[in-house]
Amino acid sequence: MRHERTEPRSVWPECHGVRPLTPVSSPGAMVQRPAGQRSTGSEGVMTVRGSPTEGLDVQGHGTTDPGSPGLIDTHCHCLPGVDDGPEDLEEAMDLCRMLVAEGVHMVIATPHQLGRYDGGNTPAEIRQQVAQLNHALTQRGIRLDVLPGAEVRIDERIVSLLQHDRILTLGDLGAFVLLELPHETFLDIGPLLVALSKMGVRGVLAHTERSAFLAANPQFLMNWADARPIVQINASSLVGDLGHAVQKAAWALLDLPLEAIVASDAHHAQTRPPRLIQAMHMLDAKAPHVAQRVFRQVPWQIARTYGSGRRGTTPVPGGHSL
Ligand SMILES: [Fe+2]
Repeated sequence: MRHERTEPRSVWPECHGVRPLTPVSSPGAMVQRPAGQRSTGSEGVMTVRGSPTEGLDVQGHGTTDPGSPGLIDTHCHCLPGVDDGPEDLEEAMDLCRMLVAEGVHMVIATPHQLGRYDGGNTPAEIRQQVAQLNHALTQRGIRLDVLPGAEVRIDERIVSLLQHDRILTLGDLGAFVLLELPHETFLDIGPLLVALSKMGVRGVLAHTERSAFLAANPQFLMNWADARPIVQINASSLVGDLGHAVQKAAWALLDLPLEAIVASDAHHAQTRPPRLIQAMHMLDAKAPHVAQRVFRQVPWQIARTYGSGRRGTTPVPGGHSL
């Protein structure tokens, strides 16, 4: 159900837009470019550009400015037939075309792991499915690179499963893991975030605004600040697709002094579309530096970060290994 858009609350002061993002245990290593990944012409720490939509061709041809890095969507259910995302390859292609139309040139596929998908969607399966999707995109001339990842339901086994390559990190790079909290039941995941940080992994809190407790008590997140979680907010929440309360919570999260990113969490081109362009326009109008940070800089650094636990087994477009 779609609700009326409301005016956003205040967001971070501009000084939040220039903080460096580093993995827990390898500061300074975050800007290396994985072998085989396309050069963007802007190596090293990202610099603030003009409007977040500058250079985007929303007609479906990706970025028009060769110096523009485009967008990276760090949370998307774009693999066909593996979870509650697209049911088949053609639906996946429709979603991928829509991402490209919104200026996305790289997406991390994040199918659900654990929870009701426990026992399925293994890392080996996801890596293989990502390779197949990349092949299909190449065949159709769709300029979108897909990296493997997962949205991992909170589970007491996560640390052990991560150590044994049973769950995937974002981009399969071993530095950030996307964690899905229950919407209605609050779990204090502080100890998990600390345990992950000791492994050199930062927790990314999937659609934080959809946790009823955290939406009502955003300051509670500061109890976890020492483990340096990243607050992920859905673009659809920012634009109001999930109602006023979720929208209000999403904007309020941007006021916290925590690193944040906006991602699509898209599942389908029609029923759960990306909504990135709309959200980016809204935030750019309010706080362009924050828009740059949460839509471009932090997602880019996540996708390009080499963490201490990277496995180096995942093929990427171009035929190289990470
Ligand atoms: Fe998701």
